[in-house]
Amino acid sequence: MNKPVDPRLLQNAEAFADYLANTAARIDADAEAKALSQGKRVGISRPHESAALHVAGEATYVDDIPELTGTLHCALGLSPVAAGRLAGMSLDVIRAMPGVVDVITASDIPGTNDCGSIIHDDPILCSGDIRHLGQPVFAVIATTRNEARRAAARAKEVLQVEPAEPVLTPREAHEKGRYVLPPMHLSRSTNEGGARAAIDRAPHKFKTTFDVGGQEQFYLEGQISYAIPKEGGTMLVHCSTQHPSEMQHLVSHALALHANEVQVECRRMGGGFGGKESQSGLFACVAAVAAHKLRRPVKLRPDRDDDFLITGRRHCFWYEYEVGYDDDGRILGVEVTMVSRAGHSADLSGPVMTRAMCHFDNAYWLPDVDMHGYSGRTNTQSNTAFRGFGGPQGAIAIENIMDSVARKLGRDPLDVRRANFYGKGERNVTPYLQPVTDNIVDDLVGQLEASSDYRARRVAAAQFNATSPILKRGVALTPVKFGISFNVAHFNQAGALVHVYTDGSILVNHGGTEMGQGLNTKVAQVVAHELGVRFERVRATATDTSKVANTSATAASTGADLNGKAAQDAARQIRERLAACAAARHGGSKDDVRFANDKVQVNGREFDFSTLVAEAYMDRVQLWSDGFYATPGLHWDRESMTGHPFYYFAYGAAVAEVVVDTLTGEWKLLRADVLHDAGRSLNPAVDIGQVEGAFIQGMGWLTTEELVWHPKTGMLSTHAPSTYKIPTANDCPPVFNVRLFEGDNFEDSIHRSKAVGEPPLLLPFSVFYAIRDAVSAAGDHKVDPPLRAPATCEAILNAVTAVRATH
Ligand code: MTE
Ligand code: MOS
Repeated sequence: MNKPVDPRLLQNAEAFADYLANTAARIDADAEAKALSQGKRVGISRPHESAALHVAGEATYVDDIPELTGTLHCALGLSPVAAGRLAGMSLDVIRAMPGVVDVITASDIPGTNDCGSIIHDDPILCSGDIRHLGQPVFAVIATTRNEARRAAARAKEVLQVEPAEPVLTPREAHEKGRYVLPPMHLSRSTNEGGARAAIDRAPHKFKTTFDVGGQEQFYLEGQISYAIPKEGGTMLVHCSTQHPSEMQHLVSHALALHANEVQVECRRMGGGFGGKESQSGLFACVAAVAAHKLRRPVKLRPDRDDDFLITGRRHCFWYEYEVGYDDDGRILGVEVTMVSRAGHSADLSGPVMTRAMCHFDNAYWLPDVDMHGYSGRTNTQSNTAFRGFGGPQGAIAIENIMDSVARKLGRDPLDVRRANFYGKGERNVTPYLQPVTDNIVDDLVGQLEASSDYRARRVAAAQFNATSPILKRGVALTPVKFGISFNVAHFNQAGALVHVYTDGSILVNHGGTEMGQGLNTKVAQVVAHELGVRFERVRATATDTSKVANTSATAASTGADLNGKAAQDAARQIRERLAACAAARHGGSKDDVRFANDKVQVNGREFDFSTLVAEAYMDRVQLWSDGFYATPGLHWDRESMTGHPFYYFAYGAAVAEVVVDTLTGEWKLLRADVLHDAGRSLNPAVDIGQVEGAFIQGMGWLTTEELVWHPKTGMLSTHAPSTYKIPTANDCPPVFNVRLFEGDNFEDSIHRSKAVGEPPLLLPFSVFYAIRDAVSAAGDHKVDPPLRAPATCEAILNAVTAVRATH
């Protein structure tokens, strides 16, 4: 019998149809169709290369790879306490459980017991010193996954531990001087006496603290590795990872093998968001150690709760700052201390803090600034990369300052922000001494201010608030400037391999990984463009350490910049060889041979691309090529924290309007307007998707996603979707105007595009400051609301209570 369709579903379907039509409206389809007919394959909106497979459920993730006969399954036994010593293990109890084949501990690791990516302080399995509640202590290998999990779940009974007092918060770690790496300092002074003197001299000043929570990556596909022993003691690992080369190194060290004896492959991830840059390592290593010992394929796929308890996430930050400013709200001097929750080991906490400090300026010129960064060692999961990589945590601190300065002066926050924007040609040097030479922030913000009707809506919100005692509206505009490149110069390199087969079909392989962001789509477009062929001719294949070696993580948003250029280099070499072959056969100059729309024009004649390829093969022309790219002009001095760490900056701005219920702390995002700079976009549809996704993800970080560790035991109590609230489709604003800024990258990036993966995560600062504006309205804007992030309903209600009490 046909059940009536739930009207809410119909409503969702309608909303989704509207949404698709709306997206289509923001793409200039006529211009794209014209460019396509002229032979362009970049700057064109293409569906994600795997879109059809994704929606049909046919895309192969690691867990979908057909299992080999004899495959065993692994589950991890976790520490039940946050700190202390491991005194003993009664593993016979576990070994006797049904289906259990073996139990592996640190002493079974033939090589080094370490999966630290930069600093080697990260044990794969606990070898005595207990670091956090949830730390893997042993691995159960069983015939089925459920048997492995059932046995591993008995960890608490079989582990003898001598518990110690855990250190759980960054402030406590800071007070105790417990850090995972030495403190960092970054100062710049343009005036006598630096930041201190500038603050002392300033007409206005204030000092305060601010708290911003961490964030779980919540990739839909969890961590997973499938290790398959190969001949001669070598190992193949299928791993959901953003960094196959790093996995290859970690597995080879754990197994005491050479890199050439370990192969790591990743076709795609169901999301990474930074969480699979270094932290896929533990799972790859455990699966490989077990497979190596038992000579059987071993798969390790922790369930969501274990994933939460084992892996780290975005660092929460605690800030203390003092600011001096003038009557126009111009910042004269700032001193800021940032303390992050690094967790039990260094992982990527160093580079995350570096990026935080290099983004404290955001879009603003700060003449005198003094920054101190401390990465607090706590008995919690080791925190790691998450979209923005510390950049969001650095930039939100200055945005909090801008917002407070405006309120204290009774000015519109946009005017205060604008008074501080980087200039063009002057007031344009960052605290780390890189000049901002591509500044478009004024133009971009001006366009958005007009298109979003910012001023009129600020007035309308004030009018609404004047007659509405309970519901309060807030409107905020925040800008973004985000540096593109890895701060470590040598990571900014990439390789690619392009094969043209004799039937004219093309395969591209590169060092980047696909995690849903559309990297393979963009790289395939670049190759199709270079060779003048249809999109359908080009296929991208799994990232594989045996194809392109020594790759960097797909991170820092550099995937398309680096791998796009490398693939272009490879394709260009093949095109040049084909052109030479065509000219030799058919006359004319090789420089006049044209490749477009699957055709080749040579000496007044036209051939199919595949005809020329077949001819070139007969002429013994090499039809495949490697390609390489290294970003030019980068340098960085770690000691002084100065240099030219970024190739260019990506910009953006957003306006958000919210309504807050001051009785319950509930709120709703009514409308968001976004203008984001992706340079000359390689694929506007994919880029708009990245901007929208990052906006909503960042909004989750700053509003509903709250991490709670038990203050005594250190148990992460928010370790599942039941207690940890990520945004859903229903949290998207009913009006969501996302557009790309028109303009080329000033630098010679791949087709003048800009990286787009991370920068838009900072756009929903506008949501947080719109909420703060609404809370402020509850106290007639007389009090600076003590609002922490995430602005959960509880936090909002506390802030409302505070502004009303003070008012
Ligand atoms: N988009 C999707 N769909 N899934 C992801 O995991 N990761 C983000 C961003 N966009 C991510 C994503 C992060 S953290 C980064 S660094 C970039 O994509 C990496 O890819 P890119 O360099 O190719 O943009
Ligand atoms: Mo992204 S946080 O650099 O993986």
